Amino acid sequence: ARLDVTETFHHISFPGHIHTQDSLNYALHFQFQDRDTVIATYPKSGTTWMQEIVTLVKNRGDPQLSKTVPNWARAPWLEQHYSAKVLEATQGHRILTTHLPYNLLASCHYLHPISQVIYVARNPKDVAVSYYHFHKMAKFLPEPNSFDEFLDSFLEGSVSYGSWFDHVKGWTSQAGVLANVLYISYEEMCIDFPQDLQGSMERISSFLQCPLVGEELTNSLRHCSFSSMSDNAMVNYTQIPKEIMDHSKGKFMRKGIIGDWRNTFTEKQIGIFDTVYSYQMKDCPLTFMWE
Ligand code: PPS
Repeated sequence: ARLDVTETFHHISFPGHIHTQDSLNYALHFQFQDRDTVIATYPKSGTTWMQEIVTLVKNRGDPQLSKTVPNWARAPWLEQHYSAKVLEATQGHRILTTHLPYNLLASCHYLHPISQVIYVARNPKDVAVSYYHFHKMAKFLPEPNSFDEFLDSFLEGSVSYGSWFDHVKGWTSQAGVLANVLYISYEEMCIDFPQDLQGSMERISSFLQCPLVGEELTNSLRHCSFSSMSDNAMVNYTQIPKEIMDHSKGKFMRKGIIGDWRNTFTEKQIGIFDTVYSYQMKDCPLTFMWE
Protein backbone atom coordinates (compact mmCIF):
# COMPACT_ATOMS: atom_id res chain seq x y z
CA ALA A 1 0.00 0.00 0.00
CA ARG A 2 1.19 3.52 -0.70
CA LEU A 3 1.21 6.20 1.99
CA ASP A 4 0.87 9.00 -0.51
CA VAL A 5 -1.51 11.34 1.26
CA THR A 6 -0.91 14.83 -0.10
CA GLU A 7 -0.76 17.89 2.11
CA THR A 8 -1.41 21.00 0.05
CA PHE A 9 0.13 24.14 1.51
CA HIS A 10 0.14 27.50 -0.30
CA HIS A 11 -0.80 25.63 -3.53
CA ILE A 12 2.22 23.32 -3.29
CA SER A 13 1.97 19.54 -2.71
CA PHE A 14 3.89 17.97 0.15
CA PRO A 15 3.99 14.31 1.18
CA GLY A 16 1.47 14.12 4.04
CA HIS A 17 3.31 11.21 5.58
CA ILE A 18 6.10 13.53 6.72
CA HIS A 19 4.42 16.95 6.70
CA THR A 20 1.40 18.47 8.40
CA GLN A 21 -0.10 21.95 8.14
CA ASP A 22 1.36 22.58 11.59
CA SER A 23 4.85 21.43 10.64
CA LEU A 24 4.81 23.56 7.48
CA ASN A 25 3.62 26.56 9.47
CA TYR A 26 6.32 25.86 12.03
CA ALA A 27 8.93 26.18 9.25
CA LEU A 28 7.48 29.47 8.05
CA HIS A 29 7.65 30.93 11.54
CA PHE A 30 10.93 29.33 12.51
CA GLN A 31 13.20 31.44 14.68
CA PHE A 32 16.59 31.40 12.99
CA GLN A 33 19.67 32.09 15.03
CA ASP A 34 22.84 33.82 13.88
CA ARG A 35 24.92 30.69 13.97
CA ASP A 36 22.52 28.50 11.96
CA THR A 37 23.66 27.00 8.68
CA VAL A 38 20.78 26.38 6.27
CA ILE A 39 21.07 23.88 3.43
CA ALA A 40 18.40 24.68 0.84
CA THR A 41 17.69 22.35 -2.06
CA TYR A 42 15.03 21.13 -4.41
CA PRO A 43 14.71 17.35 -3.80
CA LYS A 44 17.28 15.06 -5.43
CA SER A 45 19.79 17.86 -5.96
CA GLY A 46 22.46 16.78 -3.49
CA THR A 47 20.77 17.42 -0.13
CA THR A 48 22.12 14.35 1.66
CA TRP A 49 25.57 14.94 0.22
CA MET A 50 25.62 18.52 1.52
CA GLN A 51 24.28 17.40 4.93
CA GLU A 52 27.25 15.02 5.11
CA ILE A 53 29.78 17.60 3.91
CA VAL A 54 28.62 20.27 6.36
CA THR A 55 28.59 17.76 9.23
CA LEU A 56 32.15 16.72 8.39
CA VAL A 57 33.35 20.30 8.01
CA LYS A 58 31.86 21.30 11.35
CA ASN A 59 33.50 18.27 12.96
CA ARG A 60 36.85 18.92 11.27
CA GLY A 61 36.76 15.67 9.33
CA ASP A 62 35.93 13.48 12.33
CA PRO A 63 33.30 11.00 11.00
CA GLN A 64 32.02 9.95 14.45
CA LEU A 65 28.76 11.95 14.18
CA SER A 66 28.24 11.07 10.51
CA LYS A 67 28.51 7.40 11.37
CA THR A 68 26.33 7.32 14.45
CA VAL A 69 23.52 9.85 13.97
CA PRO A 70 21.11 9.79 11.00
CA ASN A 71 21.30 12.78 8.65
CA TRP A 72 17.73 13.86 9.45
CA ALA A 73 18.59 14.12 13.15
CA ARG A 74 21.88 16.04 12.77
CA ALA A 75 20.70 18.28 9.90
CA PRO A 76 16.91 18.24 10.36
CA TRP A 77 14.47 19.56 7.79
CA LEU A 78 12.59 22.59 9.06
CA GLU A 79 9.27 21.53 7.62
CA GLN A 80 8.83 17.88 8.55
CA HIS A 81 6.56 16.63 11.34
CA TYR A 82 9.39 15.80 13.76
CA SER A 83 11.20 19.14 13.20
CA ALA A 84 9.93 21.07 16.20
CA LYS A 85 10.85 18.27 18.60
CA VAL A 86 14.32 17.69 17.16
CA LEU A 87 15.16 21.36 16.74
CA GLU A 88 14.07 22.40 20.17
CA ALA A 89 16.51 19.88 21.62
CA THR A 90 19.39 21.16 19.46
CA GLN A 91 21.79 23.69 20.89
CA GLY A 92 24.61 25.78 19.49
CA HIS A 93 25.60 25.67 15.84
CA ARG A 94 22.66 24.09 14.07
CA ILE A 95 22.64 22.59 10.61
CA LEU A 96 19.16 22.98 9.13
CA THR A 97 17.81 21.61 5.88
CA THR A 98 14.88 22.79 3.81
CA HIS A 99 13.23 21.87 0.53
CA LEU A 100 10.89 24.85 0.81
CA PRO A 101 10.83 27.35 -2.04
CA TYR A 102 12.42 30.66 -1.08
CA ASN A 103 9.27 32.70 -1.64
CA LEU A 104 7.33 30.51 0.75
CA LEU A 105 9.97 30.43 3.46
CA ALA A 106 10.63 34.14 3.18
CA SER A 107 6.94 35.05 3.21
CA CYS A 108 6.99 35.17 7.00
CA HIS A 109 10.43 36.48 7.83
CA TYR A 110 13.49 38.03 6.31
CA LEU A 111 16.32 35.57 5.94
CA HIS A 112 18.96 38.29 6.08
CA PRO A 113 19.97 37.63 9.66
CA ILE A 114 20.72 33.97 8.95
CA SER A 115 24.42 33.59 8.99
CA GLN A 116 24.91 31.00 6.28
CA VAL A 117 22.79 29.57 3.49
CA ILE A 118 24.11 26.94 1.09
CA TYR A 119 21.94 26.42 -1.98
CA VAL A 120 22.66 23.32 -4.06
CA ALA A 121 21.27 23.06 -7.61
CA ARG A 122 21.49 20.12 -10.01
CA ASN A 123 20.79 19.67 -13.70
CA PRO A 124 16.98 19.42 -13.72
CA LYS A 125 17.08 16.57 -16.24
CA ASP A 126 19.09 14.49 -13.77
CA VAL A 127 16.84 15.70 -10.93
CA ALA A 128 13.78 14.48 -12.85
CA VAL A 129 15.32 11.04 -13.42
CA SER A 130 16.49 10.70 -9.82
CA TYR A 131 13.09 11.91 -8.52
CA TYR A 132 11.28 9.44 -10.79
CA HIS A 133 13.26 6.50 -9.38
CA PHE A 134 12.76 7.81 -5.85
CA HIS A 135 8.99 7.90 -6.40
CA LYS A 136 9.10 4.20 -7.19
CA MET A 137 10.69 3.30 -3.86
CA ALA A 138 9.29 6.01 -1.54
CA LYS A 139 5.82 4.85 -0.56
CA PHE A 140 4.95 8.31 0.75
CA LEU A 141 5.09 9.70 -2.79
CA PRO A 142 2.54 8.90 -5.51
CA GLU A 143 3.19 6.00 -7.89
CA PRO A 144 4.98 7.74 -10.79
CA ASN A 145 3.69 5.43 -13.55
CA SER A 146 5.66 6.03 -16.75
CA PHE A 147 8.61 8.43 -16.94
CA ASP A 148 6.68 10.35 -19.61
CA GLU A 149 3.81 10.94 -17.23
CA PHE A 150 6.14 11.84 -14.38
CA LEU A 151 8.06 14.29 -16.55
CA ASP A 152 4.82 16.12 -17.40
CA SER A 153 4.08 16.59 -13.70
CA PHE A 154 7.69 17.65 -13.06
CA LEU A 155 7.57 20.26 -15.83
CA GLU A 156 4.22 21.66 -14.72
CA GLY A 157 5.39 21.77 -11.09
CA SER A 158 2.63 19.57 -9.67
CA VAL A 159 5.11 17.14 -8.05
CA SER A 160 5.89 17.28 -4.32
CA TYR A 161 7.65 20.51 -3.24
CA GLY A 162 6.43 22.24 -6.40
CA SER A 163 8.19 23.49 -9.47
CA TRP A 164 11.95 23.03 -9.89
CA PHE A 165 11.98 26.27 -11.90
CA ASP A 166 10.28 28.31 -9.16
CA HIS A 167 12.60 26.80 -6.56
CA VAL A 168 15.80 27.66 -8.41
CA LYS A 169 14.58 31.09 -9.52
CA GLY A 170 13.36 31.92 -6.00
CA TRP A 171 16.58 31.02 -4.24
CA THR A 172 18.91 32.45 -6.90
CA SER A 173 16.97 35.73 -6.84
CA GLN A 174 18.77 36.26 -3.55
CA ALA A 175 22.22 36.32 -5.16
CA GLY A 176 23.69 39.62 -4.03
CA VAL A 177 20.75 40.24 -1.66
CA LEU A 178 21.31 37.67 1.06
CA ALA A 179 24.75 38.55 2.38
CA ASN A 180 25.82 35.04 3.10
CA VAL A 181 24.64 32.61 0.52
CA LEU A 182 26.81 30.09 -1.26
CA TYR A 183 25.50 28.76 -4.56
CA ILE A 184 26.99 25.49 -5.63
CA SER A 185 25.98 22.87 -8.14
CA TYR A 186 25.92 19.12 -7.78
CA GLU A 187 27.92 19.00 -11.01
CA GLU A 188 30.82 21.09 -9.76
CA MET A 189 31.20 18.76 -6.77
CA CYS A 190 30.94 15.67 -8.93
CA ILE A 191 32.78 16.17 -12.21
CA ASP A 192 36.31 14.93 -11.63
CA PHE A 193 36.52 12.87 -8.49
CA PRO A 194 38.27 13.57 -6.15
CA GLN A 195 39.76 16.94 -7.28
CA ASP A 196 36.44 18.70 -7.73
CA LEU A 197 34.98 17.41 -4.50
CA GLN A 198 38.13 18.59 -2.75
CA GLY A 199 37.88 22.04 -4.37
CA SER A 200 34.20 22.28 -3.41
CA MET A 201 34.93 21.18 0.10
CA GLU A 202 37.59 23.85 0.45
CA ARG A 203 35.12 26.41 -0.81
CA ILE A 204 32.38 25.22 1.55
CA SER A 205 34.67 25.04 4.56
CA SER A 206 35.98 28.58 3.96
CA PHE A 207 32.44 29.80 3.54
CA LEU A 208 31.54 28.19 6.88
CA GLN A 209 34.61 29.90 8.36
CA CYS A 210 35.97 26.53 9.30
CA PRO A 211 38.72 25.93 6.70
CA LEU A 212 39.92 22.35 6.71
CA VAL A 213 43.59 21.48 6.55
CA GLY A 214 45.64 18.35 5.92
CA GLU A 215 44.03 15.23 7.32
CA GLU A 216 40.82 17.06 8.18
CA LEU A 217 40.31 17.52 4.48
CA THR A 218 41.40 14.05 3.37
CA ASN A 219 39.22 12.39 6.03
CA SER A 220 36.22 14.50 5.04
CA LEU A 221 36.75 13.66 1.40
CA ARG A 222 36.93 9.97 2.12
CA HIS A 223 33.71 9.97 4.12
CA CYS A 224 31.60 11.91 1.68
CA SER A 225 32.52 10.00 -1.45
CA PHE A 226 29.59 8.25 -3.12
CA SER A 227 30.92 4.82 -2.16
CA SER A 228 31.39 5.67 1.56
CA MET A 229 27.99 7.29 1.75
CA SER A 230 26.38 4.32 -0.01
CA ASP A 231 27.75 2.12 2.80
CA ASN A 232 26.83 4.49 5.63
CA ALA A 233 23.50 3.41 7.15
CA MET A 234 23.13 6.89 8.67
CA VAL A 235 22.69 8.45 5.22
CA ASN A 236 21.67 5.68 2.83
CA TYR A 237 18.13 5.30 4.25
CA THR A 238 18.42 1.50 4.42
CA GLN A 239 17.14 1.62 8.00
CA ILE A 240 13.81 3.05 6.93
CA PRO A 241 11.21 0.24 7.09
CA LYS A 242 10.11 -1.23 3.78
CA GLU A 243 6.53 -0.05 4.32
CA ILE A 244 7.92 3.49 3.91
CA MET A 245 10.79 2.90 1.47
CA ASP A 246 10.66 -0.26 -0.59
CA HIS A 247 14.31 -1.17 -1.00
CA SER A 248 13.42 -3.87 -3.52
CA LYS A 249 12.39 -1.06 -5.90
CA GLY A 250 15.71 0.78 -5.84
CA LYS A 251 18.39 2.42 -3.76
CA PHE A 252 18.44 5.91 -2.29
CA MET A 253 22.14 6.10 -3.19
CA ARG A 254 21.26 5.10 -6.73
CA LYS A 255 24.04 6.11 -9.16
CA GLY A 256 25.47 9.43 -8.02
CA ILE A 257 26.57 10.51 -11.47
CA ILE A 258 26.15 13.38 -13.91
CA GLY A 259 24.17 12.90 -17.11
CA ASP A 260 22.15 9.78 -16.34
CA TRP A 261 19.21 11.59 -18.02
CA ARG A 262 20.74 10.55 -21.36
CA ASN A 263 19.81 6.94 -20.55
CA THR A 264 16.18 7.85 -19.93
CA PHE A 265 15.04 10.84 -22.01
CA THR A 266 13.73 10.27 -25.54
CA GLU A 267 14.46 12.85 -28.28
CA LYS A 268 10.88 14.07 -27.97
CA GLN A 269 11.18 14.49 -24.18
CA ILE A 270 14.46 16.41 -24.63
CA GLY A 271 12.70 18.77 -27.07
CA ILE A 272 9.79 19.44 -24.73
CA PHE A 273 12.07 19.84 -21.73
CA ASP A 274 14.38 22.30 -23.50
CA THR A 275 11.46 24.43 -24.66
CA VAL A 276 10.01 24.65 -21.15
CA TYR A 277 13.48 25.28 -19.69
CA SER A 278 14.26 28.23 -22.00
CA TYR A 279 10.88 29.78 -21.37
CA GLN A 280 11.01 29.33 -17.59
CA MET A 281 14.66 30.28 -17.08
CA LYS A 282 14.90 33.33 -19.34
CA ASP A 283 14.75 35.67 -16.35
CA CYS A 284 16.88 33.63 -13.95
CA PRO A 285 19.65 35.81 -12.50
CA LEU A 286 22.24 33.00 -12.56
CA THR A 287 23.25 31.08 -15.65
CA PHE A 288 23.75 27.36 -15.37
CA MET A 289 25.79 25.34 -17.82
CA TRP A 290 24.24 21.90 -17.70
CA GLU A 291 25.46 19.23 -20.10
S1 PPS B 1 16.55 13.97 -1.13
O1 PPS B 1 15.58 12.83 -1.13
O2 PPS B 1 15.95 15.17 -1.71
O3 PPS B 1 17.13 14.21 0.18
O4 PPS B 1 17.68 13.49 -2.15
P1 PPS B 1 19.10 14.20 -2.36
O5 PPS B 1 20.01 13.80 -1.29
O6 PPS B 1 18.93 15.66 -2.62
O7 PPS B 1 19.57 13.57 -3.75
C1 PPS B 1 19.83 12.21 -3.91
C2 PPS B 1 20.76 12.10 -5.11
O8 PPS B 1 22.10 12.50 -4.72
C3 PPS B 1 23.00 11.43 -4.99
N1 PPS B 1 24.11 11.43 -4.04
C4 PPS B 1 25.41 11.56 -4.39
N2 PPS B 1 25.99 11.73 -5.59
C5 PPS B 1 27.36 11.77 -5.62
N3 PPS B 1 28.13 11.68 -4.52
C6 PPS B 1 27.59 11.52 -3.30
N4 PPS B 1 28.37 11.41 -2.23
C7 PPS B 1 26.16 11.45 -3.19
N5 PPS B 1 25.29 11.30 -2.16
C8 PPS B 1 24.05 11.30 -2.70
C9 PPS B 1 22.11 10.20 -4.88
O9 PPS B 1 22.73 9.07 -5.44
C10 PPS B 1 20.87 10.66 -5.63
O10 PPS B 1 21.09 10.80 -7.04
P2 PPS B 1 20.82 9.65 -8.12
O11 PPS B 1 20.99 10.31 -9.45
O12 PPS B 1 19.41 9.15 -7.91
O13 PPS B 1 21.85 8.60 -7.87
